[in-house]
Amino acid sequence: MISEKTSNITTIVGAQWGDEGKGKITDFFAGKADFVIRFHGGNNAGHTVIVNNKTYKLHLIPSGVLYSHPISVIGNGVVVDPQALINEIEYLKEKEVVPKLKISDRAHVIMPYHIEMDVALTKHQGSLAAGSTKRGIAPVYGDKMYRHGIRMIDITEPEIFKEKLDKAFAFNDTLIKAFGHSHNLDQNTIFNKYLEYGKILKPYISDVSVEIYKAYKKGASILFEGAQGISLDVDHGVYPHTTSSNTVAGHIASGTGVSFRDIDRIIGVTKAYLSRVGKSPLPTELEGDIAEELREKGGEYGTTTGRPRRVGWLDLVQVRQAVRTNGLTEIALTKLDILSGFKKIPVCHSYNIDGKEIKEMPASLLDFRKATPVYDTLDGWEDLNETMIKKGFSALPKTLQEYVKYIEDQVSCPITIISMGPQRHETIIR
Ligand code: GDP
Ligand code: IMO
Ligand code: MG
Repeated sequence: MISEKTSNITTIVGAQWGDEGKGKITDFFAGKADFVIRFHGGNNAGHTVIVNNKTYKLHLIPSGVLYSHPISVIGNGVVVDPQALINEIEYLKEKEVVPKLKISDRAHVIMPYHIEMDVALTKHQGSLAAGSTKRGIAPVYGDKMYRHGIRMIDITEPEIFKEKLDKAFAFNDTLIKAFGHSHNLDQNTIFNKYLEYGKILKPYISDVSVEIYKAYKKGASILFEGAQGISLDVDHGVYPHTTSSNTVAGHIASGTGVSFRDIDRIIGVTKAYLSRVGKSPLPTELEGDIAEELREKGGEYGTTTGRPRRVGWLDLVQVRQAVRTNGLTEIALTKLDILSGFKKIPVCHSYNIDGKEIKEMPASLLDFRKATPVYDTLDGWEDLNETMIKKGFSALPKTLQEYVKYIEDQVSCPITIISMGPQRHETIIR
């Protein structure tokens, strides 16, 4: 008898500005999953996973790919740059990983004019730009909403593809030029190239919504891997300094085509401090030597663009919002090892805006620009070691335990996973 009850659904999302360590935490759980599914974003994401001292940098393919069992799924809410995807498949094959991949026929395709448009838009938006990854993300989601987007299924059907490309190319070409940005893209060349991509990717393309649903009904274990983080969510983030998709767990239904009534765990990955790649106000931002120290120690350089990440102290106003909007059942706190050696660790629990103490993220960009952090300063800890990791939470320095409990208290969410290094075994389950 088919039963829903055996299904185990776990979701991993970012609780900050992205780069919290979602890849590592996804990999940690993926061994027991039947499906690992991306439901939004594109190759703006960069998820680094280290297994047996080998480093894997993933952008589109879910971080479960390093296990042989689970099927990796790119849901309809994801935007796919076919060349980037083909490169990633090749990159993995060179590392002796052969992806068991499925791509939704409804996922939208990033076209070369989206990338040109991204450059033009960024220039035009000036002080309101997010400092995009230049992967064409805003324009591809824009075209989806304008309803002349091109989907994965279309690049396997020449007739429809031509009909759609005529409209989409003309639209983007006109706008790009109107912004004073020149390009040398040719519609016919794009048409032929993308039909080739369609042929290469066809074996992976299917109606994954139906397949996931059937597997779910049969009791499959499903792991969702979010990209970016709450402050980059197009609705709940620091708009307009966001990405163009919803990063919140609630987007799983629309981004996969399956509405899950019972999600067992929603895990918000939170770095023990904070990093931000791109532009926006950043109340707890650090500068000077201390920023340099944290950036170098934490290896805070973008996985996708290589840009140095801005760094700052943990911002619990942000994490509080992540708990609420995602419905987090728990938090995975990462990179605690990087904070080792800091004598004092400030943690922002509220903002001061015009003399008022504010505990929730403001919608007003004006307020956000004025926000200054209100800190509690906690005691730091010295170096952590393997024995402590093996023995578990109670063997960790008392000050680190207090740091964890302070966060739980402030955001009303349990921290059940503690990460103290990039590898699978450097993880404590509480
Ligand atoms: P994601 O985008 O959320 O998947 O995060 P990224 O992969 O872009 O950035 C996180 C980086 O931190 C990666 O290089 C991980 O290997 C690394 N990492 C994850 N967890 C830990 C941890 O607990 N300690 C240390 N030192 N590194 C970690
Ligand atoms: P992962 O999944 C960090 C940021 C960009 C920019 C804004 C908009 O690795 O955590 P976009 O190219 O999406 O239009 O850029 O969002 N951004 C990320 N920052 N981690 C990411 O992904 C990001 N994806 C986008 O820097 O500020
Ligand atoms: Mg990343």
